[in-house]
Amino acid sequence: MANSALTLSEIDAFYGDSHVLQRVSFQLGEGRLLGLLGRNGAGKTTCMNVSVGLLPPRSGSVELFGAPVTKLPPESIAARGVALVPQGRRVFKSLTVRENLMVAARVGFAGHGQIPWTAETVFAMFPRLAERRQQMAGYLSGGEQQMLAIGRALMANPRVLLMDEPSEGLAPQIVAEVMATIRKLKESGLSIVLVEQSPKLVFDIADDIVILNSGRVAVVSTAAALKQDGVDLRQHLGVF
Ligand SMILES: Nc1ncnc2c1ncn2[C@@H]1O[C@H](COP(=O)(O)OP(=O)(O)OP(=O)(O)O)[C@@H](O)[C@H]1O
Ligand SMILES: [Mg+2]
Repeated sequence: MANSALTLSEIDAFYGDSHVLQRVSFQLGEGRLLGLLGRNGAGKTTCMNVSVGLLPPRSGSVELFGAPVTKLPPESIAARGVALVPQGRRVFKSLTVRENLMVAARVGFAGHGQIPWTAETVFAMFPRLAERRQQMAGYLSGGEQQMLAIGRALMANPRVLLMDEPSEGLAPQIVAEVMATIRKLKESGLSIVLVEQSPKLVFDIADDIVILNSGRVAVVSTAAALKQDGVDLRQHLGVF
């Protein structure tokens, strides 16, 4: 396996008394795309919150490129090159499209010989945002807001990109556009975690798959092996 970009080891995480993640371990290899699947409430977002420092785990460790970051504050973890596209997009509705991008700008970790992300390179990737650069983000459609949320994460020039259900609530045509974007980002060398509920979306694009079930890791596999073996996904993901 490639070197690990992000490693969660034996994570136990709680909201109050509620024990939400139980000994969760998985690794995102450098330059790979890991699909994190699970039903509603399985703990996917909680894994993201732990990874970016929003929810310090009660026990277990988080490592970035081999260096421990467990319990560091979110801004320190962001400075080490992790960016999250949060579930539900959460753009700044009363800022313009361009302002949303500029508040997230950071020199970051653009790889050697790679062009760093700027508002202009984001606009080149998402021409629809370019047309609306002076518009308030609150007036964008759902798909456009998702593009803006992705663009905002890229403005930090991260090494690791975490995307929490980017397809949620979008029409199939827009989902296809978002997936094509994610594929391009993977080809650019970013290490990516893609959280989704639908295995159909993830299997074609992911290198590795982790399935969470009730706060525990139920399956860890390569996407290729899972496709071939046809594990009973219904057991973990419900009917689809
Ligand atoms: N802030 C919170 N306070 C208390 N409990 C929470 C909080 N956030 C999530 N939970 C609970 O933790 C569990 C895992 O939630 P989480 O949001 O990680 O699930 P998820 O897999 O992302 O689900 P979904 O697909 O619906 O987004 C759920 O039982 C949820 O109710
Ligand atoms: Mg979630």
